[in-house]
Amino acid sequence: MHEEARKRDQQDPLASCREHFEIPTNCIYLDGNSLGALPKAAKTRALEVVEQQWGQDLITSWNKHAWINLPQQCGERIAPLLGAKHDQVTCCDSISVNLFKLLCGALALQPGRTKIVTTNDNFPTDVYIVQGIQQLLGEQRCQLVTVEEAGIESALNDEVAILLLTQVNFRTGNVLDMATITKKAQQHGILTVWDLAHSAGVLPIKLDEWNVDFAVGCTYKYLNGGPGAPAFMYVAERHENAFIQPITGWMGHATPFNFSSSYTPHEGVTQSLTGTPSVISMSVLHAALGIWNDIDIERVRAKSIALGEFMLECMAHFKLADELVLASPLNALQRGSQLAFKHDQAYAICQAWISEGVIADFRAPNILRVGFAPLYIGFEDIWIACEKLKTIMDQQTYLHDHFQKKHTVT
Ligand SMILES: Cc1ncc(COP(=O)(O)O)c(C=O)c1O
Repeated sequence: MHEEARKRDQQDPLASCREHFEIPTNCIYLDGNSLGALPKAAKTRALEVVEQQWGQDLITSWNKHAWINLPQQCGERIAPLLGAKHDQVTCCDSISVNLFKLLCGALALQPGRTKIVTTNDNFPTDVYIVQGIQQLLGEQRCQLVTVEEAGIESALNDEVAILLLTQVNFRTGNVLDMATITKKAQQHGILTVWDLAHSAGVLPIKLDEWNVDFAVGCTYKYLNGGPGAPAFMYVAERHENAFIQPITGWMGHATPFNFSSSYTPHEGVTQSLTGTPSVISMSVLHAALGIWNDIDIERVRAKSIALGEFMLECMAHFKLADELVLASPLNALQRGSQLAFKHDQAYAICQAWISEGVIADFRAPNILRVGFAPLYIGFEDIWIACEKLKTIMDQQTYLHDHFQKKHTVT
């Protein structure tokens, strides 16, 4: 199988993309679903923006280097990856903050409806934000309803205001059918808000074609924007005029530099901005997004599926599949770009794997999570990672004390 892995890397049409990244030697990085690797162009831009733009050109850079347009410029680069015409996507803040803006704005578009339905194993921040809005507005204006993933469709009715879903489950990688669910929700007059954290840059998405209302996502995973890189938000053109987000800061104003004392929203998605953009982070993101100009997302998806299937074959080959139990869907088409394995010692196994140069992550309560970033992960990486995992499992090295010690970030 090792030979087979090498052959597949040689035939891989995306193999050359790895050259865009700085991957440390002797490191197999299976955590690009948490924090994408460093694109070389991003590093160059970071130096340029700090040394030249900030260092030399100082405040003139807002105009000279168009810092002020970075949210829109990043939005324009992200839009094609989401199947969205540009002008509907902008970049700012975090998913959490953007969800607050979208959910409050969307609720206001649904007079007489109070319920926000989401899944009980959605990423916690999504649920927390709804809980916060419920507390802020009171239950007569906002009520959180949580359901199992399998119970989404039966929870849709004419009392629901908003359906808030994450397309790819952060633990299991299960993919929800965005097109079908959106359509069914809209038959009940429900507005849809999709979290694309684990989708953008790895799944072909067609927000416009699927008639999605609103979406958010982060750029620090498969879009490689760097730690804490700003999030994106999508507001469908048809909601542009009616949608008003609640954090009405000056960057969302129609004419911020008139310094008017009353708020007039900017046209389109730009009114979703609030405060001054984080220029260094956004410049780095803008450079990182440049990679996507020449990349076909369908190819990325095909490779992601192939990598996942190959890992399952390797796990079977090394007889690891009984011990590390697959918690992701078996059908590759129903999986995002990750595999989740259950084990009582998943945390310690992950730490032992990291000490061998294979970086994955742990998600409570018992998931070893392995992500495939197809732009820089190859088949031989998977083979070597599984070989190392085999040794760890056979020798039970994960039982050592230092692998048991829980770090703050898992
Ligand atoms: C599905 C999902 N939503 C939201 C977040 C976090 O969003 P943020 O920290 O940008 O608010 C994550 C983080 O991994 C996530 O996986």
